[in-house]
Amino acid sequence: MQLSHRLRALAALLAVVGGPLSVHAAQESAASISASSAPASILSSALSSVSASAVSSASVVPSSAPTSAPVSSSAAVSSSAPGPSSSAPVSLSSVLSSAPASLSSVISSAPASVSVSFSAASSASASASISSVASTPISASSAFISVSIPASNASISASTTAPPSVSVSASAAAAGSPSFNSGTGTETGPITVPLSEYTFSSFPVASSTPIPKVFVPVTPANPPPVSSDEIPDFAQAWADAYEKAEAFTLGLTVPEKVNVVTGVGWENGRCVGNIPAVGEWPGLCLEDSPLGVRDTDFNTAFPAGITAASTFNRSLIRTRGAFMGAEFKGKGVNLALGPMMNMGRVAQGGRNWEGFGADPFLSGAAAYETVLGLQSSGVQATAKHFINNEQEYKRTQESSNVDDRTEHEIYVAPFLQAVRAGVAAVMCSYNLVNDTYACENNRTLNQILKGELGFRGFVMSDWSAQHSTLSAVAGLDMSMPGDIDLGSHTSWWGPNLTAFVDNSTIPDSRLDDMVTRILASWYFLGQDAPDFPPVSFNAFNNNDPATNQHVDVQGDHWTVVREIGAAGTALLKNNGALPLNKPKNIAIIGSDAADASMGPNGFSDRGGDDGILAMGWGSGTANYPYLIAPVDAIQDRAVQDGTDVNWWFLDFNTAGAQTAAFGFEAAIVFANADSGEQYITVDGNAGDRNNLTLWHNADNLINAVAEVNNNTIVVVHSVGPCILEAWIENPNVTAVLWANIAGQEAGNSIVDVLYGDFNPSGRLPYTIAKSPSDYPAQPTGGGGPNDIISVPYTEGLFIDYRHFDAQNITPRFEFGFGLSYTTFAYSNLRTSTIAQQDHDSTQLEQAWAKGEATPNVEGASTAVWLHRPAFEVTFEVKNTGPVAGGEIPQLYLHSPDSSEPPSLLRGFADVLLSPGESQTVRITLSRYDLSVWDVDAQGWRKPSGAFQISVGASSRDFRLSGTLPV
Ligand code: BGC
Repeated sequence: MQLSHRLRALAALLAVVGGPLSVHAAQESAASISASSAPASILSSALSSVSASAVSSASVVPSSAPTSAPVSSSAAVSSSAPGPSSSAPVSLSSVLSSAPASLSSVISSAPASVSVSFSAASSASASASISSVASTPISASSAFISVSIPASNASISASTTAPPSVSVSASAAAAGSPSFNSGTGTETGPITVPLSEYTFSSFPVASSTPIPKVFVPVTPANPPPVSSDEIPDFAQAWADAYEKAEAFTLGLTVPEKVNVVTGVGWENGRCVGNIPAVGEWPGLCLEDSPLGVRDTDFNTAFPAGITAASTFNRSLIRTRGAFMGAEFKGKGVNLALGPMMNMGRVAQGGRNWEGFGADPFLSGAAAYETVLGLQSSGVQATAKHFINNEQEYKRTQESSNVDDRTEHEIYVAPFLQAVRAGVAAVMCSYNLVNDTYACENNRTLNQILKGELGFRGFVMSDWSAQHSTLSAVAGLDMSMPGDIDLGSHTSWWGPNLTAFVDNSTIPDSRLDDMVTRILASWYFLGQDAPDFPPVSFNAFNNNDPATNQHVDVQGDHWTVVREIGAAGTALLKNNGALPLNKPKNIAIIGSDAADASMGPNGFSDRGGDDGILAMGWGSGTANYPYLIAPVDAIQDRAVQDGTDVNWWFLDFNTAGAQTAAFGFEAAIVFANADSGEQYITVDGNAGDRNNLTLWHNADNLINAVAEVNNNTIVVVHSVGPCILEAWIENPNVTAVLWANIAGQEAGNSIVDVLYGDFNPSGRLPYTIAKSPSDYPAQPTGGGGPNDIISVPYTEGLFIDYRHFDAQNITPRFEFGFGLSYTTFAYSNLRTSTIAQQDHDSTQLEQAWAKGEATPNVEGASTAVWLHRPAFEVTFEVKNTGPVAGGEIPQLYLHSPDSSEPPSLLRGFADVLLSPGESQTVRITLSRYDLSVWDVDAQGWRKPSGAFQISVGASSRDFRLSGTLPV
C-alpha cells in the first residue's frame, strides 16, 4: 500500500475509536499522528503499520483539537484563537455532508481564528462558496485557489486533486479587528498542511515588454546605475536561466532531484549550508552573513545593515553589497545568506541590527540596492527572514498574527523590493505566521511571494525551520541544512521526499519546479562559468590545512567600511563641541573606546560585549580581520595634533572616570548596547535586549563624567534605540554621536566624524523614544517550554514613527533625524506628473487612477507600470553654513486614506554641497508608493483624495509641502 493510503487508512481507524484526528507528515521522521484519545494499543499498531512503509519511524503527539467539535470518519478539526471565543465549536456537518461543499457555516461562526481541514472520497470536484460574507465562489478544479473575505479578512484556500480524493482546507482570521491581536496567549497548535495528493502547476509570470529607458533588459551582472529611473527587467535573464535549468532537470532521476533540494546535513560540508554535487553539477555552498563572509579569514567585516541604512545613501549601500558579493564569490560561496530585512517591530528585537531599520520604504530601498550590489558581483543573494521574524524569544514557537494589509504594506514591502532587484533566493523564517509555520505557509510562500510578487528564484528554509515533508506543496524549495534538527541525521526530505513523490502525494511537477528554481538561480548568476572559484574555506574548522586555503578577498574594501561607518553616524546633539579642532587634551572614557581584551574575535560569533562594539552577535556576523578601536584612532590623530590623551575604561568605577576626565578640554564617553541571535545569551540577554538602557553602567558613567567636565561628548555604538533620558538634557553633555555598529574600521570612522573630516549626514533609521512604553509594541514573552505563543501585531501599520505621529507622542529623537556641522535651506518645491510616451499599460493605469485595485494575478505587485516613476517632486537644497556637508532630504506622503499613518517615508536623496552651493533635488514616486493594499480585492489601490507631501530633514522637520498632481 502506498504511504498516503496507509496514512489515510490509519486516520480512519483512529477516528473510529473516537478522537479528533489529523494525520500529517510531521515531527522526527516523515509522519506523525496527532490524536487526543486513541488508546495506546491502537496507536502502536498504527505506528507499526506506518513504520513498515518507506518511513523510518513515527511519533505520536497529543492533539490540540477541541473534543467538542463534531467529527466524522475522515475529518480533522482544530480551532485556534486567542481570546475567549477560541473554544467555540465549529460545525462541520454542512461541510462534510456533501461535495460540492459549503463553507459558509464555518466562516460565519468563526472565532478569531479557525482552521478546518477535511478530506473525503468523492468523485466530484470540490467547490465552496462563502455565502454569508461574500458571494465569491471557489471552484476547486486546480490547486491553491484562494479568495479573501472582505469583512473578516479571512482567506480560504482550496485544493483538490483528480477524483477520487478531494481535500479542502480553510482558514479564517479576523485580522483586521483589534480583538484578534489583543492580549497575549498561547496557540492551540500549528495548522499543518493536510495530507493529500496534490496537483501542481508553476506560477506563470506575466511577461512585460521592455520599455526603452524605463524597463531595461539587464542581467544581474549589469544592473541599472544607482538612482537611475530605469527599472531592471530581468525577464530575459530568468528565461535564459530557466531554459538551461529545465534542460538539466530533464536528465535527473527523482533521487537526484531530491539531492538538489535537500542539504547534506549540519556540518557535513565546508559551508554553513551545502547542497551536494549531482552529476556534473557541482552543488552549492551557502554561507552567512548579511555583513560579510562568516566563518573564515582574510575577509572584510562590513558595517551592519542598520549602519548602512543610517547612511540613507543608496550609492554606499550598493557599493557595500557589491564588495561583499565579491568577497563571497572570491571564497567560492554560491549563496550569501543576506540581506536580512525584518522590520524592527520591537525596539528590543535581538537581530534588528542585521536589518535596515523600522520603515518599510527605507528597508526596501536598502534591500534593493544590497541585492543589486551582491548579485552584480556574481553571488546569489538571499532575502531573509520571510516573514514576521521580529523577536528572538521563542522564535521557533511563536505565531506572528498579522492582518493582511499590515503584512503587505509593512512586512512584505522590503521583500517586494528584493524581488524587483532579481533576488535569487528567499529564506523562510522560524516562526509561524497566523498559526502556520513560515516554511510551510501556502499563503506567504505560494500566494504572496511566488504569486503576487512573481518571485522566480527559490525558497530555502532557515536552519531547521522546516516542519514537514509536505512543506514542498506549500512553497518550500530547499531544505536547510537538510536534517530535521541540526545533526539529527534525519530529514523531512531526502528519502522521505522521494517516497512522497513516488506515491504521488507530492507531484513530480512540484519537485521539478523546486529543482528548476534552484538551478535557474545558479545559471541566472552565471555560476556555471568554469572560472567560478571553488570553496576555499571550512566554516566548521578554520584550522584544518587541507580545507582552508585562506584566500584573501579583502581588496580595498576597508575604504567603504570606513566611509559607511562615518556616513552612518547621526549627530544627535551639538552645542558647538564638535567638530574637535586640535584639542589641547582629551579624556577618553568607557570600555567601548577600547580594544577587546580577548581580541576582536575572542567571543565565538561575537557573543560578548567587550571593548568597541562593531557588530551584534549570532550568525549575522563575520570574523574581524582587525578592529580599530576609537582609542587607537584618536591617538593617531593626537600624534598629528599634538593632543594629550588620557583614558579610563573601567565602566563601573565612576570615581576613577571622574579623575581621568577632570580638567580636560573635552571628555568623550563611549557607550554601547548589544543584542543578537537567540542561541547565545550575553549578560542575561537571550538575543533580544531585556531593556533599552545602555550597557555597562553607561548612564551613570556619562553623568559622573559630566559632573566634572562641562564638555562631555557622548558616542554611542548600538544595535538599536536606547533610552537616553538619564543624561540627554544634561547641559554638560555638549554633543552626542549615534554611531550604530560600524565594522572593522569603527575607530577610524568615528574619528573622521569627531574631527570633521566627515561632516555627519547619518539619519536615525528608527525612533529614539523617551520611554520604552512609548513604542507601539513590546516583545512578547510567556509560554511554557512546549507552548507556541501568540504574538499579536495589534499595532498594525503603526510601527515606529508612524505610531508616535498618530498618537502625538513626542520622541526624544525622531525617525530620520540627524544634524550636521553645517545648515541647509530648502526652497522651491514643485510637483508634476511624469509623461509617458509608451502606452503598454494604459488600461491598468487608468483603472488605478479611478481607484480600482490592481488585478490579482501573478506578478501583479511587481509590475513595471506600478513601480515606474510616475510623479516627480523637485526642490532646491542650499548649504547655508560654513562647511561642506551632506544633506539627506526626505519626502513624506500624507495619504488621503485616513486609516494610514499621518506620514509615510516615500523618498530620500543624498546631496553633498559646498558652502553656499545649492542643488536641485529630484525625487520620484511610483503608483505603488501612493497605493494601499486592498484586502478585499487583493490588490494595490489608490485611495481617493488629495495626496499631500512634505519634504524636509526628518520625519518631523518638514521644510516644504505640496500636493501631488494625481
Ligand atoms: C539564522 C539564519 C542563518 C542560518 C545559518 C539561522 O539560525 O536564523 O539567519 O542564515 O542560521 O547560519
